[in-house]
Amino acid sequence: MPSSPAAPTRDVVLARHRPGPGTLPSSCVHLQDRPWSPLRPGQVRVRNEFLQVTAVMADLMSEEPGLPMPAYALHEALWGGAVGTVTESAADLPVGTVVQHMKGWQEECVDEAPVFYPIPLQYLPGREYVLNQGVTAYHGMVDVAGVGAGDVVFVSGAAGGVGSLAGQIAKARGASTVIGSTGSAEKVRYLVDDLGFDAAINYRDGRIAEELAELAPQGIDVFFDTVGGVQFEAAVHAAAPDARFALCGALAGQVGGGTESAPRLDIMTAIVKQLVIRPFSTLHTPEQLAAWGSHYGQWLAEGRIVFPHTIVDGGLAVAPDVLDGLLEGRYRGNVLVRLHD
Ligand SMILES: NC(=O)c1ccc[n+]([C@@H]2O[C@H](COP(=O)([O-])OP(=O)(O)OC[C@H]3O[C@@H](n4cnc5c(N)ncnc54)[C@H](OP(=O)(O)O)[C@@H]3O)[C@@H](O)[C@H]2O)c1
Repeated sequence: MPSSPAAPTRDVVLARHRPGPGTLPSSCVHLQDRPWSPLRPGQVRVRNEFLQVTAVMADLMSEEPGLPMPAYALHEALWGGAVGTVTESAADLPVGTVVQHMKGWQEECVDEAPVFYPIPLQYLPGREYVLNQGVTAYHGMVDVAGVGAGDVVFVSGAAGGVGSLAGQIAKARGASTVIGSTGSAEKVRYLVDDLGFDAAINYRDGRIAEELAELAPQGIDVFFDTVGGVQFEAAVHAAAPDARFALCGALAGQVGGGTESAPRLDIMTAIVKQLVIRPFSTLHTPEQLAAWGSHYGQWLAEGRIVFPHTIVDGGLAVAPDVLDGLLEGRYRGNVLVRLHD
């Protein structure tokens, strides 16, 4: 059903640039009505059902994030992953097609048909399963760190969107031991009981180096880091000779700020152990998308991984608060907002 010309739709738009990690992302955005507009030839209208919420969205609100992707523009909707259904079409994409796209935090969107990708529902338990951070987790774990059989792996930020998949990918690739870090006892249990990690550490206990030494007495072979700070420093000391580090994120600085969030590299230890430390940016190339896509559905079907996620109800209006909550550690896994019942 096309929406009514009388009814505006709503977007979450950037109202002001975010000055730094101390500012709640929700204070930088507001809900804005957008008038209904007719389709031009080649366009479709999509009613969104799920929005993806990720940590980098907060960074993209700053004036110059310095990231390999476009910053959010003032007074425009936040771009990002979303899933919806075509409700009106003036193109070769039929009404009723379920699609994913990157047009982000809008109740409804209108654009050229090639902007929207039909979802292969036959390979997935639900349409929301496409809103995952597996491309980054797979690229970092497999292409960058080269995880394989017998590796002892440490994942920081392991209960987050990227980390929760990175640890499972390591297990699916034959890692012998996967250890995760997270910020609460409840999430420690989640990693071990629900996601199949071999062990998990609550970094808030302040014993990360001691616990790594106990859990990996021969050292860690792979470190997938989304946090930085003292967890990176602990991983250098816990590393086995020739360990591979895939540096994905710096949550300690992105969320907490402050100088303690910037890790110091113990260069002599890194030299003696001949560590391979590789920061990476996932550019979502066709090869990277295909590599993850060729494993995701199959591993789900075989029960080798689960889609770790939290769905928050409440519609578009709650999305900004959900982003605040994501940074505060309120959720587990990949975080989605459901727009309708
Ligand atoms: N390199 C790339 O190509 C690439 C691509 C995508 C994302 N990333 C990066 O990957 C990281 C993870 O992104 P995401 O979207 O999956 O976020 P996320 O991990 O789902 O969400 C944030 C999590 O950060 C943790 N956290 C908050 N403050 C922390 C602190 N001071 N120290 C340690 N952990 C803290 C919280 O978990 P706890 O409850 O466990 O504290 C929270 O759940 C981010 O740094 C993001 O920018 C990189």
